[in-house]
Parts: sequence; structure tokens; C-alpha cells
Amino acid sequence: MSASRSILLIIGGGIAAYKCLELIRRLKDRGIASRCILTKAGEEFVTPLAVSSLAGERCFTDLFSLTDEADIGHIALSRSTDLLVVAPATADLIAKMATGLANDLASTALLATDKRILIAPAMNPRMWEHPATRRNMAQLEKDGVLVVGPNSGAMAERGENGPGRMAEPHEILAAIEQALAGETRVSPTIGFLGRSPGGAVSSGQKPLAGKRVLITSGPTHEPIDPVRYIANRSSGKQGHAIAAAAAAAGASVTLVSGPVTIADPAGVETVHVESAREMLAAVEAALPADIAIFAAAVADWRVAEEAPGKLKKQPGAEAPALALVENPDILATVAAREIDRPPLVVGFAAETDNVIDYARAKLAKKGCDLIVANDVGGTGVMGGDANTVHLVTADAVETWPTLPKAEVATRLIAHLADMSKAGG
Ligand code: C5P
Repeated sequence: MSASRSILLIIGGGIAAYKCLELIRRLKDRGIASRCILTKAGEEFVTPLAVSSLAGERCFTDLFSLTDEADIGHIALSRSTDLLVVAPATADLIAKMATGLANDLASTALLATDKRILIAPAMNPRMWEHPATRRNMAQLEKDGVLVVGPNSGAMAERGENGPGRMAEPHEILAAIEQALAGETRVSPTIGFLGRSPGGAVSSGQKPLAGKRVLITSGPTHEPIDPVRYIANRSSGKQGHAIAAAAAAAGASVTLVSGPVTIADPAGVETVHVESAREMLAAVEAALPADIAIFAAAVADWRVAEEAPGKLKKQPGAEAPALALVENPDILATVAAREIDRPPLVVGFAAETDNVIDYARAKLAKKGCDLIVANDVGGTGVMGGDANTVHLVTADAVETWPTLPKAEVATRLIAHLADMSKAGG
């Protein structure tokens, strides 16, 4: 169907530029030809040779190259295509587009085109959230430019986390197909912009501005003696990504985290705890909240009596028997609070079978408003980067495709913002 379709792909200067090589390959598989312009900054990240080898034709790099002008010219280049795609769309390219600057081949083609434009922004979270970028993005949306992403998550810069990761090649491909099919809006994978109910990109407001969000994440460690503990394999990736997405959506966020090896999300107040009882105390201290999300894998049991000194192996003696007692259920405790129960309480459920039925039962048992159920019957959800979830409420079930955890986080936050608004 898309055999005669072609795009003009403008590759900007950012670490995400390498993902464009994968994008070109996937486009080709779908029968969509890509002609490419590589900006000067883009050349720092991928070479014209790599781009042209994959695209199967020369890669354009310089406005003032006489050969290019003789061959085709920037006006024809920008019009002999079905769609212009800018990926990565850097803050610089976005600013040029918003103001109509035309001082190199990429910006000139963008100004000269009579075709639609789709951009995949990619930049540092602070640059993305800067008022100048907000203004420029609002302008581009007014101008009818389509936007896919950015996603929220860890940045190439160490310790940086938040909205600004370029959408993945498969997400950009999906947006390109939607744009080529004539859709006036493409499904966003948006962290910052928020979603309107139809799944379209809405204007630049922050949907959780003024809201307090409380999130638990990671495992708990239950001490046996001063050097040993009982733990589980939770990485905290999903809970931390939700905290980052909530902050990106404008909420004031407290993250109560068990012991994890990943960085604290930017712009989030993170409280570090070890045991379930410490986690409960930190959660209670952080109330009140508008939305409470319990993503932590809290240990169900702890050792009844922590040994004051290291348990020693005694020659000939039997192995010590560990008596266990039940830990407090943090989610159920908070959901049952009378005075300051958060209006929206969300739990997680990892199940291997009968996922929906168990999630429904858990919803009632724990007294929460929504269960995010994930199917851990497959491989590697704990510690992995992707998640398959079902959103289970008393009267509905919504199933999402397998998505990166950062994407689950941004979608969940958009969903909770809508639920929170609907609940008053
Ligand atoms: O009972 P189960 O562990 O399957 O319930 C999972 C949900 O309950 C998760 O949202 C988890 O964070 C929460 N939970 C809790 N405190 C516990 C056990 C689970 O908050 N002690």
C-alpha cells in the first residue's frame, strides 16, 4: 500500500541520531523510501556514508554544495516527497522551525516545503522543559507540525532522567505511517505534553500541575542479622519511571524507594528506606497526596526477631530456623485511611496466571481504585525494560501492548491525570 511512498528524513545532531539508521531500515521494510539530509551537527553522530548505504541513495549535507543544487536544489528536495521527518529534532532545529530561520540545507528545506512535517524531539529534560522550548513547541503545534515523543526516561548524560528521549524507531515508524495515511494527529508517546482522550497530542499544559503524587518503588530488604537480609529481584525501574513521568507532568512527587542501584529521578523528592516498616513510615509521613501509586515489591514477611549480632556457624549445630511474621500491607493501610486517604490509590499486581481475575480480587481486597496488573508468566519483567500491563478497575479492564517501562509510565500518568480530573 505504501510502496510508492517516500519521506525526506532530516537527521539532527544528537546522540539519538544513531536510531535513524534503524528507522531507515524499518522504513525500507515497509516500502517507504527515505531521502536524507544530515545536518552539520548530525554528522558528528552518524556519517553520510552510513546513512546513504542504508537509504540506498546519496545523503545531502550542505546547502551550498553546487552539485546538490545542480542535481536537485533545495526547493525540489523539500517537495519531491510525501512527508518531512525531523529525527532527532534538537532544541536548535525546533527553534529554527518555530522562527522560520533558513541558514542551512535542513532549515531551508523545512521552510520551503509544501508537505507536512513530523518531528521526533530529543534533548536534555531541562532543555525540553525550558520556557523557550515550550513556546517553540506551542508555535509548531499551531503551525500543524506533527510530534511523536519524546519519551521519559534515563538520558545519555549520567544521572539525568526525565522527558527528552527520542521516540523509538518503531514508534516513529508508526507515526510516519499515520501521517502518510493522512491523519492530522499522530499517537504520541508523550512525556510532557499530556494526552487528550482521543490519544492526540494536546497543548503544552502540564496535566498534573498542582497535584501531589506519592510513589513507592523497588524491593524491601528485611534484616536477618546486621549483615544478612531477605530481598527480591525488583529493580525499581518501573516505579522510578512513573515518578519521573509524574514530575514531567508537573506534579510534586515524593518517591519512597527501597534499595535499588538506579539513580534518583530528576526533580523528585526521593526518600530511601530499607524495610517494609520503614517504607510504611515514610509513606505515612509523605501524606496527604492526590494520587498514591504503590509500585514497590514489598516483602510479604520479615524475620520475627532480627539477631542483634551476626549469626555464627557453630560446628555440629543445626542451621538456624528463621521464624517469619507478616509485614504491614502498605497499600491496604493507606487505602483504608479515613481522614487523608488519597483520592486515587493505585496498586500493582504481578501474576503468572489468571491475571485479570486475581487483579480484580486484589482490587477489592486492598481497597484501591486501580490495579496495574502485569503478566510475569513470560520472561524478565522484574529487572527487564519492558512490561505488559492491564489496567483493572471495578468495572473495566484496559490492556496495553508490551511497551518499554518508560512508556508504560508516561501512559499511566496520562491515564491517572484523566481519572483524577474525572473524579473532580
Ligand atoms: O499482595 P501483593 O504483593 O500481590 O500486592 C501487590 C501490591 O500491593 C503492590 O501495589 C505493592 O506495592 C503493594 N504492597 C504493599 N505492601 C505490602 C505488600 C504489597 O504496599 N506489604
